[in-house]
Amino acid sequence: HDEVFSMKNVVQFCSDLYQKKFSSLKADDWAKQMMITDRGFSEEILQQFMIGFAPNERSFVSTPLINNAHFELSKTLGFTNTKDGASYDFFRNRIMFPIHNDKGDIIGFGGRRSNLEEEAPFAKYLNSKESKLYLKEKVLYGLWQAKKKIASSGKAILLEGYTDVMALHQADAGNAIATCGTSLTEGHARLLVRYCKHVILFRDGDKAGLRAVHRDIDICLKHGFKVEVVICPDGEDPDSLSKKTDINAFIEKNREDAILWKAKFLQIEAKNPELVSLEKTLRDELDKEIESLRKDIIADSMMKDLSVMDKKFTKKENDRIFKTINDRE
Ligand code: CTP
Ligand code: MN
Ligand code: MN
Ligand code: MN
Ligand code: MN
Repeated sequence: HDEVFSMKNVVQFCSDLYQKKFSSLKADDWAKQMMITDRGFSEEILQQFMIGFAPNERSFVSTPLINNAHFELSKTLGFTNTKDGASYDFFRNRIMFPIHNDKGDIIGFGGRRSNLEEEAPFAKYLNSKESKLYLKEKVLYGLWQAKKKIASSGKAILLEGYTDVMALHQADAGNAIATCGTSLTEGHARLLVRYCKHVILFRDGDKAGLRAVHRDIDICLKHGFKVEVVICPDGEDPDSLSKKTDINAFIEKNREDAILWKAKFLQIEAKNPELVSLEKTLRDELDKEIESLRKDIIADSMMKDLSVMDKKFTKKENDRIFKTINDRE
């Protein structure tokens, strides 16, 4: 625990330096241009998410850290490294997104490169190393900032990335959080279920986002969440979309029960006529607006069937689902 305590100090120390550096940039430095001019983030949001900047220097944090009693930990955390006896920084020329745990401690960073840098060898985002302090599979970006709004609204909006979370918070959807690229893990679900029982999945409008959403649905259902899905238009993500449209109105208009969505998706995918009628049956049910209670009944009884199923309904699954619906009528 002593070590974890010291790690937190090192992370906080670096975060302060990065944040001060970001503030001192000129409006036309690329990092401010990207965050303020291009993405339109407000001063308030930049502060709330403690956005920083790691300058293009060999030892911006290494130099002050080298005299720190916990210098070795900065290597463990992946902020510095030593080569030929000299210490150098891992994050250089990157916008720094501090990652908080749900108690508000900073435990790691994501660092974004400039768009002027090449894709290779400069990955768009670098993340600090995993450690006792930072376990990626158990961290939801923005959860600390979103906690209150998640509690008061009873639900969380689950996104992909750092800027998606910031954009939604700026648009007053302060219950937005992100998995940071990966799909949702069991660890994420166990963490989130302590805060709410309803998740809206809002992934990027690309293949990766669509692939992730299927796995996310299964995990969320397994952990007992009510699950809804919002599909992002092709080529957009919640951040970019929020610059073009009223993002809250978009979510309200497009959120749809995940089980129905999945049934529809699979039905289209499988071009299975039985599924077409299943979808229609379910739609009709909803249209009758005897809805939320019944929808829950359908959802409950279908949950098992759907969550174990990956690509298609088998004949047996189909029969069981239809039986479920018929039994209810
Ligand atoms: N990510 C990562 N490493 C990468 C790419 C992505 O860790 N090389 C994580 C980041 O947390 C990122 C999220 O996955 O925010 C979503 O990735 P992507 O949609 O590609 O990036 P955006 O968040 O949309 O970033 P930007 O708008 O700056 O392109
Ligand atoms: Mn993406
Ligand atoms: Mn992408
Ligand atoms: Mn994205
Ligand atoms: Mn984006």
